[in-house]
Formats: sequence, structure tokens, C-alpha cells
Amino acid sequence: MTTSGPRPIGPDDIAASITLSAEAFGDLPAGFTPPAPETWPLPGRHSWGTFADDRLVARVMGREYHSWWHGRQVPTCGIAGVAVAAEHRGSGLLDALMAQVLDEGLRERGEVLSTLYPTAPGIYRRYGYEVVTGLLEVELATARLSRVSPDPAVKLRRATAADLDDVRRVYATWAAAHNGPLTRTGPSFPTEAAEVLSSFTAVTLAVTTEPVDGFAAGEVVGFASWHRGTGYDDSATITVDDLVSLHSGATRSLWAMLGSHASVTGRVRLGTSGDDPVRLALPFAEWTVTKQVPYMLRVHDVAGALSGLRLGPLDARVELVVEGDLLGTANGRWLLTTADGVSTCVPAGPAGPAGPGTPDAPDAPAPVLAPRGLALLVSGAQPCAAVRAAGLMRGDTASDATLDTLFGARRVHVRDYF
Ligand SMILES: CC(C)(COP(=O)(O)OP(=O)(O)OC[C@H]1O[C@@H](n2cnc3c(N)ncnc32)[C@H](O)[C@@H]1OP(=O)(O)O)[C@@H](O)C(=O)NCCC(=O)NCCS
Repeated sequence: MTTSGPRPIGPDDIAASITLSAEAFGDLPAGFTPPAPETWPLPGRHSWGTFADDRLVARVMGREYHSWWHGRQVPTCGIAGVAVAAEHRGSGLLDALMAQVLDEGLRERGEVLSTLYPTAPGIYRRYGYEVVTGLLEVELATARLSRVSPDPAVKLRRATAADLDDVRRVYATWAAAHNGPLTRTGPSFPTEAAEVLSSFTAVTLAVTTEPVDGFAAGEVVGFASWHRGTGYDDSATITVDDLVSLHSGATRSLWAMLGSHASVTGRVRLGTSGDDPVRLALPFAEWTVTKQVPYMLRVHDVAGALSGLRLGPLDARVELVVEGDLLGTANGRWLLTTADGVSTCVPAGPAGPAGPGTPDAPDAPAPVLAPRGLALLVSGAQPCAAVRAAGLMRGDTASDATLDTLFGARRVHVRDYF
């Protein structure tokens, strides 16, 4: 048997790719239509495969995304559709595929970060990914939500195509204040208003009725995108894909709107992540997590990923050493500086003439991070003490407080599964 690849999965491989997917993830939904060869490759998807005697036996897909990290929209390679044929598991085929997909993403589209939703985190730790947050499904009793008081300074109305820019602005404002959310721009996201709106029973807007808390009257300050679902008894559930709000009154009014379905639905199911501040508007403790999917991050290009970030007012100069990256790209000594709140990261090579970007000394004490520790730290998911306790950081502690201040200001959140 001869193994070849990785090579791009082309139009002639569509059937083999679907077969491998079904074998790995189960039968495809009834009515699934395979992509037509002339539409291949699908926009924003870059699939690579390994072949044994011309049979597809392993595949990995890179998806073109941008995600928000520390106030910057960072090109991000979303890894999806990872599968190895049962008889070829354990033979290390993923190593070359992962390297290929990530390197192509970096070279062609500047994807300095990579993220994924693992079926098991252990699969990806060897590639330097670590869990930085989780996509959650939580359920609440609709009847309890009916006790939330709406804000009289906010009115609700149904979004139309004319409101889509406002919905996008509210989402972008929310997303930019966190680490992790996809920008929802680019080839994987619909641009047509009709397509966006038709995915939901309704997108409900929360609009200010008067100037309040820095918002003008008539401003859209929150929205909920929801599916009513079937049935009208206690077993019925409303599913809310997004409850995004910039204002506490808007949050309360949107919760109350969901609660108004109490006579016809028993549960409200919300897609959320981490510690969602919309929970702070609830007067009760119930928040039952019914599903959680971890979200993992890898820093593929350290200098690229750590430059241009809004890391706050501190003017800092910190060196980091990264060791143990199987894929090689993250290893090295890196100098991170911030000026006017924005970061620059360069390789800290041999000492040269003094100046910005020049390391203090190539052998000066510096903390040493494993790639997984780097992901935890720079995402703001964990502070240095926790990364050290996990065995993913060692050495000099002098810059720990600075690193925690630089990276710790934003919580990690995600909303979009891929
Ligand atoms: C997951 C899958 C792609 C792994 O391929 P593989 O060739 O078996 O990979 P390997 O056996 O070389 O394992 C790679 C690493 O993942 C770990 N791993 C594999 N399956 C795992 C599991 N179910 N749980 C935890 N870790 C797992 C291995 O221990 C190994 O880690 P190590 O290097 O630290 O020992 C393959 O088993 C598969 O196709 N499974 C079904 C589909 C799936 O789950 N895909 C992942 C989607 S996110």
C-alpha cells in the first residue's frame, strides 16, 4: 500500500470525502445534497487529504475566518471535518495534514491563529491547541423569564431587511469587546438580508425610546434571533441563537419578550458561552447547561498573532520563549512591546543595535511557554499562575504580572459552531 499526499481534495474526490465524513460523524442528514463538482472548492473552505493507493483515508478542512482578539480582527484558520479512516487511525496521518492546512492558511490568507471545536481535546493538544472557552446550550423555564421586568426606556420591534446593518453593528460592538467571537464576515456568512432573516422565526430588536446611558433615542442596542419551534405545551422549546445586548435594560426587555411565551412553551434554550453577562439580568439562579462544546486555540504565527492588539495603556516590553511546538512555527524567543496601547511582536534574535524590536539580551531570563500555555495566556483564558500550575509555563516570573495585565482584560466568548 502506498500513501500519498497531503494534496487538495478536488472535485473528483467529493464522493470519497462524503463517504469518509459519514464514516467518521455518522450518516448525513436526509435530503443532503452533495456539492456539484463545478462549485468546488466551496467558498472559504480548503480541504486536504491523504490517500492510500488512491483511496482517501484522511482529511482536514481549513475554513477562512476572522475572529476578534484584543480589539483586532485576526485572520483565523477554523479547522473542521477532521477524519481518519478507521483502519488508518493511530498511524500519524494527521501530523502532515494539520501542518499543510495551517501553513497554507498562513501563507495564502495570513491566518496567524487557528481554532476548532474538538470531539475530544486530546486529539489536538499535540498540535499546541488548548481549550480557551466553550460553546454552551443553556435552558431556562419560560415561566421564570416572564417574571423579568422590561425596561420602559426600551421598546422592542421586529427586524426587517433595513435593520440588518444595525444588527451587525450591535454584534460587532459586542464581539470586539471580547476575545474569540468570529467577525461573521467573509465567505461563510450570508450577506443577503433575506437569507439572514429567513433563518429565524424572528430577529427582535431592542431600541431606546429616549437618550439613556450614553445611547441616543432610537438606537438599536440589542437583539435576539430566535426560532419558535413546534408545539404549544410545556414540552415546547424556543431556541435563541443570539441574545446580544449592549445595554442592561435591553437585556431585560429581550428576556421578558422570551418569557411572554410562557403559556405556550416550557423552555427557552439559549446559545451562549463562558460567563455570559446577559445572565446578570435574571432574578433567579436557574441556568441549566444542556450541552457544551469546548473551543480550542492555537497560535500558529506568534509575531503575527501578537502584533496590532489593543492591550491597554501600559507601555510594556516583555520577552517570551516558546518551546515544544510539534509544527515548529511557534518555537523561538519573542519580544512583545506595546506603545500607545497597541502591541508589536518580533522574533528576539541575536542582540543588535539598541532600538525597538531589539531584545535586551538573547539569554536574558524569560518565561518559557509550551504552545498550549501560549494559547491559554494570550487568549486571556487563564493567568500565568494557572498556566504554570498546568505545567505549560516555567522559568522567570518577573513579567507574570505584566502579562496578566496585558492579556487579562477581555473574556473569551464564541457563538458560531463550525
Ligand atoms: C480523531 C481522529 C481523526 C484521530 O486520528 P488518529 O489517526 O487516530 O490520530 P492518532 O491516533 O494519531 O491520535 C492523535 C492524538 O489524538 C489523541 N486521540 C485520538 N482519539 C482520541 C480520543 N477519542 N480522545 C482523546 N484523545 C484522542 C491520541 O491519544 C493522540 O494524542 P497523543 O499524541 O498525545 O497520544 C480519528 O480517530 C477519527 O477520525 N475519529 C472520528 C472523527 C473525529 O472524532 N474527528 C475529530 C473531529 S474534531
